[in-house]
Amino acid sequence: MPRYALITGASSGLGLALAEALARRGRNLLLVARARTALESVACELTQRFGVEVLFRVCDLSEPLQLSGLLHELEQGERQIDLLVNDAGLGVSGPFIEQDWGRLQEQIEVNVLALTRLCHAFGQNMAERGGGQILNVAALDAFHPGAWMSSYHASKAYVLNFSEGLRDELKSRGVKVSVLCPGPIRTAFRDKGGIAANDLSTCKRALSAEEVALVAVRALEKNQAIIVPGWRNRLLGLSFRLAPRWLVNRLAARRNRLAMAG
Ligand SMILES: NC(=O)c1ccc[n+]([C@@H]2O[C@H](COP(=O)([O-])OP(=O)(O)OC[C@H]3O[C@@H](n4cnc5c(N)ncnc54)[C@H](OP(=O)(O)O)[C@@H]3O)[C@@H](O)[C@H]2O)c1
Repeated sequence: MPRYALITGASSGLGLALAEALARRGRNLLLVARARTALESVACELTQRFGVEVLFRVCDLSEPLQLSGLLHELEQGERQIDLLVNDAGLGVSGPFIEQDWGRLQEQIEVNVLALTRLCHAFGQNMAERGGGQILNVAALDAFHPGAWMSSYHASKAYVLNFSEGLRDELKSRGVKVSVLCPGPIRTAFRDKGGIAANDLSTCKRALSAEEVALVAVRALEKNQAIIVPGWRNRLLGLSFRLAPRWLVNRLAARRNRLAMAG
């Protein structure tokens, strides 16, 4: 049975860079996102450059029925998913009570529900086969609350905690689970969420999607539990654990407010 890495959010940014890094290593891919044209051109390019099979499926992960359809199709098919990369995500910025509910719901559907559902479906499948790997994309923001992006931070805290728990549950079944916690990445993510990337600390720590993907793919090969790319981000991650929580929360709120105002 042919094996594939399923990557959500592969039409742009980090998901696209992860797709390229995995194709470079000879992996067949199944790419998932909403933007058909982008997926088509990524699939075509990666197939030509790396000689791997690259399939794609258009699916809005905030629509449970579309996700059910995708899962049903994959259950019936002959393709084996031996690596699941849950990268798709969005970040809503601004005062929580002033946000459009539809947008907040979309964020939770994609960042939390779709990711959990995909882990449930493919985790079962992998456990039955006695092997497989899952990479969930959280963020450095997962380590602490962040006013003015409260629901985004909370969604990524869920991804971090869920992934760590699932790792322990599935270890004895031969399924490896890792969680990627990047700091700022130079992608369109911030523009889409109305977040300005104009404060100095953010710019200094920002990595390219390709840099983050390379670190992630290498760490996956070592079955690393929590992956934080970049020494500045690792240092910051450590300081979140050592500094008083009120201070971390206050600094995060200040940064998010500045980004919002920018
Ligand atoms: N950029 C950063 O600073 C940063 C930092 C830490 C963590 N992250 C995380 O990294 C991940 C990737 O973000 P990025 O920076 O690469 O941003 P991006 O360029 O905006 O990519 C987001 C991806 O998610 C997909 N997506 C969004 N909503 C979707 C939906 N409803 N259904 C299906 N796919 C959907 C998008 O595809 P379509 O629009 O084609 O559907 C796109 O491929 C996210 O989980 C994000 O939270 C980003």
